Amino acid sequence: MATTEQMIGREDVNDLEAILAVANTDVDELVHNVKDNADAIFTWDYEKGRRPALNKLYEKAKSAQWNGETDLPWHLEVDQEAQVLANAENNGDMFFAGNLDLSGTEFEKWSEEQWIQLGVESQNWMLSQFMHGEQGALVCTAKIVETVPWIDAKYYASTQVMDEARHVEVFAKYLDEKLSGHYPINAHLKMLLDDIIEDSRWDMTYLGMQIMVEGLALAAFGFIHAMTEEPLLKQLLRYVMSDEARHVAFGVLSLKEYYDELTAAELRDRQEFAFEAAVRMRDRLLQQEVWERMGVDPAEAVQAVMMSPERVMFQQMLFSKIVPNCKKLGLLDAGAKEGEKGWLRERFEDIGVIQFEDWVDTGEEYLEFDAVSQDRAAAEAAEAEAAAPA
Ligand SMILES: [Fe+2]
Ligand SMILES: [Fe+2]
Repeated sequence: MATTEQMIGREDVNDLEAILAVANTDVDELVHNVKDNADAIFTWDYEKGRRPALNKLYEKAKSAQWNGETDLPWHLEVDQEAQVLANAENNGDMFFAGNLDLSGTEFEKWSEEQWIQLGVESQNWMLSQFMHGEQGALVCTAKIVETVPWIDAKYYASTQVMDEARHVEVFAKYLDEKLSGHYPINAHLKMLLDDIIEDSRWDMTYLGMQIMVEGLALAAFGFIHAMTEEPLLKQLLRYVMSDEARHVAFGVLSLKEYYDELTAAELRDRQEFAFEAAVRMRDRLLQQEVWERMGVDPAEAVQAVMMSPERVMFQQMLFSKIVPNCKKLGLLDAGAKEGEKGWLRERFEDIGVIQFEDWVDTGEEYLEFDAVSQDRAAAEAAEAEAAAPA
């Protein structure tokens, strides 16, 4: 069993100074090498559908492919500042901090232009991190194709590789053509992606990527999709989410079977990994690079602005898929003695996210998320109606 220090590099999970001390020191690097430490596995068992749930997911994925160049309305102009203002007006302001007492802080003197600039930078930062995370998913699923021993899972994972290529592509294009700047990868996110890739055990790739990173992404995309009125971003997220829901389902369905065979000690390793991933993702949400670019001390900014009730709720909501999925996999309470709380349950209590444990898990939810098939069915119905004699 690892100590908190060994798992996350600090004793106190909420040690703000230690969190902010982790920064990306090589923001100009163009390539980044990570050892993936795993064997590529062939299987000679080609029986398709031995795992029916994975086979169903694979068939769904084949018919739900879309084209990032032609299926999104790229011709639309995006006025980023107007979007920041509209978001602030419609959503009770994520950053305009109307309800916070900012007296005595740097923000007290901020003009409206500075708040708008913060909104613009935050969006550039957030979508940049999505793009980097998507590349992480691309690399992870390519690794899963090699390392998972089941043919149905190799088939499915190969469709996810294509999905992730498309996601990197559309986020990069949106950043380049519609927004106003890129950010390098956040150090906490980078550490997490490195840890996932470096682990030699095939199921850890799934746990880190499909359950934790993609579980958080699915919740974040859903939140932003609901919030934004920018039609291109809304459609982009709707399509990306319809893929992501399958990806998280892939993790849940694969690991459910595998974890049933593991010992308590092996499950404890998985619990610790899930906790580490949760902390890394939570740490990155402080968006320290944005504060630096705005010329504000990150520690002061985090204390003054990031603690607003809306922000705290937003950050907790991001775990609304992860926690029920961990519960479904048995990770919350694995290893707990009768009458005791499970180890991961206690950790999720510490970081304030256990309240989601009974929310719907993502094993089947992908069927409702399938925006691509819904749009195609609607287009076919409209065509049939137009062709029918009056
Ligand atoms: Fe993705
Ligand atoms: Fe994904």
